[in-house]
Amino acid sequence: MEYVILDVDTGIDDALALAYAIQSPALHVLGLTTSFGNHVVDITTENTLKVLEILGATDIPVAKGAGKPLLRSPLKANATHIHGEDGIGNTYLPKPKATAIDQHAADFIIEQVRKYPKQVTLITVASQTNLALAIMKDPEIVSLVKRVVIMGGAVTVPGNVTPVAEANIYTDPEAAELVFQSGIPITLVGLDVTMQTLLTKEHTQMWRESGTPVGKFLASCSEFYMDAYAKINPYLGGCALHDPLAVGVVIDPSFVQASPMYVQVDTEGSASIGRTIGDRRNPPKQSPNMDVCLQVDVNRFVSHFLQQVITKNNI
Ligand code: BDR
Ligand code: CA
Repeated sequence: MEYVILDVDTGIDDALALAYAIQSPALHVLGLTTSFGNHVVDITTENTLKVLEILGATDIPVAKGAGKPLLRSPLKANATHIHGEDGIGNTYLPKPKATAIDQHAADFIIEQVRKYPKQVTLITVASQTNLALAIMKDPEIVSLVKRVVIMGGAVTVPGNVTPVAEANIYTDPEAAELVFQSGIPITLVGLDVTMQTLLTKEHTQMWRESGTPVGKFLASCSEFYMDAYAKINPYLGGCALHDPLAVGVVIDPSFVQASPMYVQVDTEGSASIGRTIGDRRNPPKQSPNMDVCLQVDVNRFVSHFLQQVITKNNI
């Protein structure tokens, strides 16, 4: 079993990633850390607690983290047009009973990584701010983290917040660049692969028909996400499983094919800020600093995701 910490900005696809990860027999979730992104950090933290409650997993600790980027004023507003006013598809779940633990996300990461040296995989599906703060506070964790699987970036495809930048990198480009250059083993799960993994209304219909609270919640928030996607691209036919794919890559690395590559974040450009620039020259001139996922077995991953979410959550 893989020890993991998920860093989230819950968020609809973050909620789907939680439903996939928490009950997975392959993963032991040590805790969840939260940051700003899809909404302000107070709301993403509350949403994380709400989702844990509906999944019946309130024993998992939640540590609240960064509310703003490392160095700069926020580049982008909350993504309420994609994720809803409440951040989870206007499902307005009841206030959670549990609260976040009394420890900053960065300190939780340091504590767990030191407790389980070279055993913890971090799955970061939000900005890299919490991990960057942890590295700045305790640089030794770089050699103690097993691996970071990052949902972020767009190395070979267009961005989703700007023509070239993906949301989780654009949210805090300096934090992402710090993590990229830190020496931590990284697997980058970017739009290159996540935009191919689609959830459709046929899938959510199954969840809705189950009549269970989890099934109805996941169907409602996912359908909100699909409608938001349809406004941007009416031909897509679904919503992308960005954050669940990062979890999937930890559960079964054979869902993707990854190539070693040097990638840096543009932190200075104006039109290009937040772009993830990969050295794709042949041969490359810079030594790789990560594995970049470039191909995904869409059918095998989506089937596994659906099957796990349904059976493990009794939907
Ligand atoms: C990423 O940005 C967030 O809005 C989603 O939750 C996902 O992590 C996709 O670009
Ligand atoms: Ca996210």
